[in-house]
Amino acid sequence: MSVLRAAVLFLGLVASCTPDFAPPTININLDDDPKVRWEPILKVFDPDYLKRAAAEVIDSTVPKWLHNVLKELVKSSEKYILPEPYGDEIRGLAAHFGDGLSDAIMLNYAYEISAFCTSIVAQDKDGNLFHGRNLDYPHSSVLRNLTVNVNFLKDGKVAYSGTSFAGYVGLWTGQSPNKFTVSGDERGKDHWWNVWKNMVSGFLLGRSPVSWLVRETLEVAEDFQSAVMRLAKIPIITEVYYIVGGARAGEGVVITRNRGGPADIWPLNPLNGEWFLVETNFDHWLPSPAKDHRKQAADKAMNATGQGHINMKTLYQVLSLNPVCNEITVYTTTMSAAKPEEYSTRVRPQGCPGTH
Ligand SMILES: *[C@@H]1O[C@H](CO)[C@@H](O)[C@H](O)[C@H]1NC(C)=O
Ligand SMILES: *[C@@H]1O[C@H](CO)[C@@H](O)[C@H](O)[C@H]1NC(C)=O
Repeated sequence: MSVLRAAVLFLGLVASCTPDFAPPTININLDDDPKVRWEPILKVFDPDYLKRAAAEVIDSTVPKWLHNVLKELVKSSEKYILPEPYGDEIRGLAAHFGDGLSDAIMLNYAYEISAFCTSIVAQDKDGNLFHGRNLDYPHSSVLRNLTVNVNFLKDGKVAYSGTSFAGYVGLWTGQSPNKFTVSGDERGKDHWWNVWKNMVSGFLLGRSPVSWLVRETLEVAEDFQSAVMRLAKIPIITEVYYIVGGARAGEGVVITRNRGGPADIWPLNPLNGEWFLVETNFDHWLPSPAKDHRKQAADKAMNATGQGHINMKTLYQVLSLNPVCNEITVYTTTMSAAKPEEYSTRVRPQGCPGTH
């Protein structure tokens, strides 16, 4: 054991202590009525547990007074504020989660804040694209139990896939087979109060949560380029980074989003030696905060891996390195649009605690 550990340390890649595991996978049929299409989730998750877990996520994320305000708002403007088909999907789920429709809606807005993440898009020497992400979240222990891979089917075929949490209709991570892959990382510079203020006003304006735009883009964009256009332009409720990988050489980008449109577009530039991009939760043109070493550690590990050795496995290893993977990491996904069958999500049962 100690020899193995020494070997692992020698490689500079510290594996997490507890084995990771694959979350359940469900099929959601887009040809079904939105109100019933999420029912397969109840076959995989215990309904009582789902109710309790949803309540815990909401209580730990939404301030009590705001919870009450939102309840009133939902009652008076439910029809107006929920764009379809997500509105009906949430209405369908409401029977199974927490305390009725307002809780189901809040659950679907609650994840909009506090999602700290690392995303990497990289190109190997043969022009193959790889895209990996860690999703970090403060209430990670309950979310590890709610993580689920979802295949969205149309005419019996997988139209797109992603990784989500039971009860949540949006996607922070997803793949349109042979076209593109997307991940979202929170752009976390706002005070929580501003985030909630923006959310309430965005909600009333009918703007989408950032994860709904990911799902909608996976559903409708024909290729990498049109995905980038949509993700850059369509108004959303909070600021975010969208990381997009394509199926062809050169197709990799980090989009820094303001609520109304793009703030910056940062493309891969492999001909100039920029064969990978690492985005955490800070604008790439600014220095990282002194206390947050995730980007620096990931950059260093990518450099150490080298363009000649980057693949799904080595990308996963980079994403397993503390602090890139840390105490609150919920799951790690690795994907490559040109090889959709290799899409892989692993839940980190205890995250990756530091070694000291
Ligand atoms: C997660 O699930 C396990 C196994 O079902 C359970 O023992 C544990 O309490 C759950 N954790 C949380 C935070 O709900
Ligand atoms: C990674 O390599 C690039 C190119 O050689 C260099 O500019 C950058 O500083 C390196 N990053 C780290 C963290 O070592």
